[in-house]
Amino acid sequence: MGILEDKARARVFYRYLSTVYDAINPFVWNEAMRDRAIEWFGVEAGDRVLDVGCGTGFATRGLLVHTDDVWGLDQSAHQLERAYGKFGRRGPVRFVRGDAERLPFADDSFDAYWSSGSIEYWPNPVAALEEARRVTRPGGPVLVVGPDYPNSTVFQRLADAIMLFYDEAEADRMFAAAGFGTFEHHIQQRAPGTPRAITTVAAVPEE
Ligand SMILES: C[S@@+](CC[C@H](N)C(=O)[O-])C[C@H]1O[C@@H](n2cnc3c(N)ncnc32)[C@H](O)[C@@H]1O
Repeated sequence: MGILEDKARARVFYRYLSTVYDAINPFVWNEAMRDRAIEWFGVEAGDRVLDVGCGTGFATRGLLVHTDDVWGLDQSAHQLERAYGKFGRRGPVRFVRGDAERLPFADDSFDAYWSSGSIEYWPNPVAALEEARRVTRPGGPVLVVGPDYPNSTVFQRLADAIMLFYDEAEADRMFAAAGFGTFEHHIQQRAPGTPRAITTVAAVPEE
């Protein structure tokens, strides 16, 4: 398990990273990538959407273009402070401090679940995906963006030491273990040679 797949360490990490997050983020996860993922997500006006690991609100802003009922959850007070600076504490977004693996919401609370760039820090991603399935209504979309596994052995060793990087087979395993039956993956990249993201779109089973 990577050093940052630990909630307390991730919180400390983001205490410092939050100061520069918005300046660095566009090099690996930019508006074009986000907006393409939102197309696959397929959220509609009026949908209640939960953005887990919302951070400073980068994806939140993109989601707000499509629906005005967006909730943002993050475990880092420092990241949330940055988000409050953009949207206000009681603005268009309902912000909650909490843990992806134990969401403080009732079953079927949301029409759709989004999480970009957060799964790599979760010690138990399957537990968090089960939570995604629980809080999203049957048939609703669940979209998760994470770092794609590098091809070179050297980078694989480095990646494994830091956090969760995963390929499509691993994504299949995690989503199936969390109870999802159908899902598709897209590999996204800002430019050749830059880090790739793996974006998975699943639907909560109708049962
Ligand atoms: C790379 S940022 C992504 C921010 C935003 N979603 C975006 O698209 O730019 C990852 C965020 O996940 C949050 N995070 C990490 N582990 C978490 C957990 N267990 N529960 C909730 N948030 C978590 C971090 O605090 C951080 O704000």
